[in-house]
Amino acid sequence: MPKIIATGGGKGGVGKSFFSANAGGLLSMVGKRTLLIDLDTGGPNLHSFFGITNPKTGLNDFLSQKSSIEECILETKFERLFILNSKNCSTDLGNIPFSMRNLLQKEIKKLRYDYIIIDLGAGTNRYLIDFFLIADFPIVLFTTDPLSLENSFRFVHKVFIHKIMESVPYKKLSGFLTEGSSVRPVEILERLFNEKSTYYEDLKTNFDKFKLYLAASQTENSSEAIKNIVSFYKKFFGENITFTGSVPFNAEAKSFISQRKLFVSGPKNNATVKGLMEIVKFLL
Ligand SMILES: Nc1ncnc2c1ncn2[C@@H]1O[C@H](COP(=O)(O)OP(=O)(O)OP(=O)(O)O)[C@@H](O)[C@H]1O
Ligand SMILES: [Mg+2]
Repeated sequence: MPKIIATGGGKGGVGKSFFSANAGGLLSMVGKRTLLIDLDTGGPNLHSFFGITNPKTGLNDFLSQKSSIEECILETKFERLFILNSKNCSTDLGNIPFSMRNLLQKEIKKLRYDYIIIDLGAGTNRYLIDFFLIADFPIVLFTTDPLSLENSFRFVHKVFIHKIMESVPYKKLSGFLTEGSSVRPVEILERLFNEKSTYYEDLKTNFDKFKLYLAASQTENSSEAIKNIVSFYKKFFGENITFTGSVPFNAEAKSFISQRKLFVSGPKNNATVKGLMEIVKFLL
C-alpha cells in the first residue's frame, strides 16, 4: 500500500506544487519509488517542474476512459520518480463527474508505489477536501501573508467539519455548526459528551485517529510569526495538528522552474532544501 500525501491549503501561489515536486524529488533520492499526481486539473503545472511540455499521455486519458491509470503515468528524468500529469486536462476537478472522481480515488489507492504525492489546486471546495482526506499525510501549506492565513484557516476548518460529519448526522449538528462558523471541534465533542450523545464515541475515535500536518512556505525570518500561527491552530483545533517545519523563500526557485530543473537537484546546502528535508523526515 502506498503512503499517500496530499497538499492543500486554500490560497493559490503558496507553494503547494513547489513542495510536491521537490518533496517527491527528495523521496526518490532516498530510494523511495514515488509518484506525483497533479489534481489541479483546471490549472495544472506540476509537469512544468519536470520540463514536460508535450506529454504523450496523462490524467486526461484516464478521465476519457482511453487508458488505465497505470498507462497514464510517465517517468521523469529522476530515477524512481514518476508523474501522472494533467497538462491536457481542461476542466476543474469539481467538474469531473462524481463517479469518475470516486473511481480515481479507488485507483490511486491501488497503485504500487512507496509514496504518492497528490498536488491539489487552490480553494476550499468539498471535492478538494475529499481528495485531501484520502491521504495518510494531509498537509496544509500556508504563508504568513494574511490572505493566505485566512484561506488556510478556512480550509482546515472545513476539513474538520467534514471529519465531524463522517461521525455525526448533520441534523444533530445544526444550530451549533454551520460552515464559516468558528466553533472549535473540541467544543462539539464536549457538547456531545455532555448530552450523553450516542455519536460521542464515534467522533472521539475518528478524531483520535486523525492527524493534519502544517508547513510554512516561502518563509523569510518570520519564526515568531510562524510560532504564533501554529500555536493559534493548536489552540483552535487541538492535538490533531502537527507542525512539520518551514520551507524558506529562495529567490532562485523560479529560475529553476524556467530552466526545467528541480530545485532539490541543485545545491543542497541552503535553507530551502534543508527545510524540505526536515519536512520529508516526517514522511519516512
Ligand atoms: N520556497 C520558495 N521560494 C521561492 N519561491 C517559491 C517557493 N515556493 C514556491 N515558490 C514560487 O512561488 C510560485 C507559486 O508556487 P506554486 O506554484 O508551488 O504554488 P501553488 O500553491 O501550487 O499555487 P496554485 O494553487 O496556484 O497551484 C512559483 O513560482 C514557485 O516557484
Ligand atoms: Mg499548484
